[in-house]
Amino acid sequence: MEHLKIINIHKSFGGIVALDGVDFSVKRKSITGLVGPNGSGKTTLFNSITGFIPVDDGSIKFNDLDITNLSPDKIANHGIIRSFQIPRPFSKMTVLENVLLSGKNQLGENIIPLIFRKKDVLKQEQDNHKRAKELLELLDLSHLTNEYSAGLSGGQKKLLELARILMADPEIILLDEPIAGVNPTLANKIFEKIIEMRDKYDKTFLIVEHNIDVVRDYCDYIGVMNRGKIIADGDPSKVFEDKKVLNIYLGLDD
Ligand SMILES: Nc1ncnc2c1ncn2[C@@H]1O[C@H](COP(=O)(O)OP(=O)(O)OP(=O)(O)O)[C@@H](O)[C@H]1O
Ligand SMILES: [Mg+2]
Repeated sequence: MEHLKIINIHKSFGGIVALDGVDFSVKRKSITGLVGPNGSGKTTLFNSITGFIPVDDGSIKFNDLDITNLSPDKIANHGIIRSFQIPRPFSKMTVLENVLLSGKNQLGENIIPLIFRKKDVLKQEQDNHKRAKELLELLDLSHLTNEYSAGLSGGQKKLLELARILMADPEIILLDEPIAGVNPTLANKIFEKIIEMRDKYDKTFLIVEHNIDVVRDYCDYIGVMNRGKIIADGDPSKVFEDKKVLNIYLGLDD
């Protein structure tokens, strides 16, 4: 079933047409890859889905809800989160504290429940703690639980980011180049963790990624963008045999 549906989205910046009628669907619990040359509109599409830029035309549906041009806050609350919506890790906080920070429904932040519903607040804190620890364990970060985030390696910081996103418990997670600058071993590990998280928590992932080999290995559906349009989509094996796609990647597009 479709979890996210993008219908005929248009977006121009002055004279630059960034999105020129994008039609695309993301299936529930899929790991969907979005690929395409530099400047083809991938990040702009992410910005449109998450409400960071208003679109000129078209609509975006999440489940059966029309979320076109809602504010980023509202869209995040509905359950679509992209990596940078989770604030950067605070280097002077521990790994665990950083994960706890993105837990949702923090009753304790509100003075009224603090006074009248002490039990609920305590219970929620315990639940959040439990979930944070479980996520750290699953992402192989539990040995770093009480370390300051500043001391983490680049790869560990990427895994921490994943933990923090999952702590917020969205339905759909958008990742823009999650393995950029990461060595191949770690890149594979990050994608293996993404698959594990999808399976365990029933999440849907939409991932922009330039590394075609990784996309082919780990994504179960792929959209290819070029010049503001989706020019091919489907199974990885089929999409990368499509002549239009090959031409783009061989630089024969002009
Ligand atoms: N805020 C903006 N103002 C003006 N032009 C923009 C803006 N954001 C994007 N663009 C333009 O829109 C087009 C699509 O850019 P976008 O960043 O979406 O591409 P991309 O596919 O994410 O590229 P990359 O792979 O390099 O990240 C480009 O021509 C870009 O210069
Ligand atoms: Mg981009």
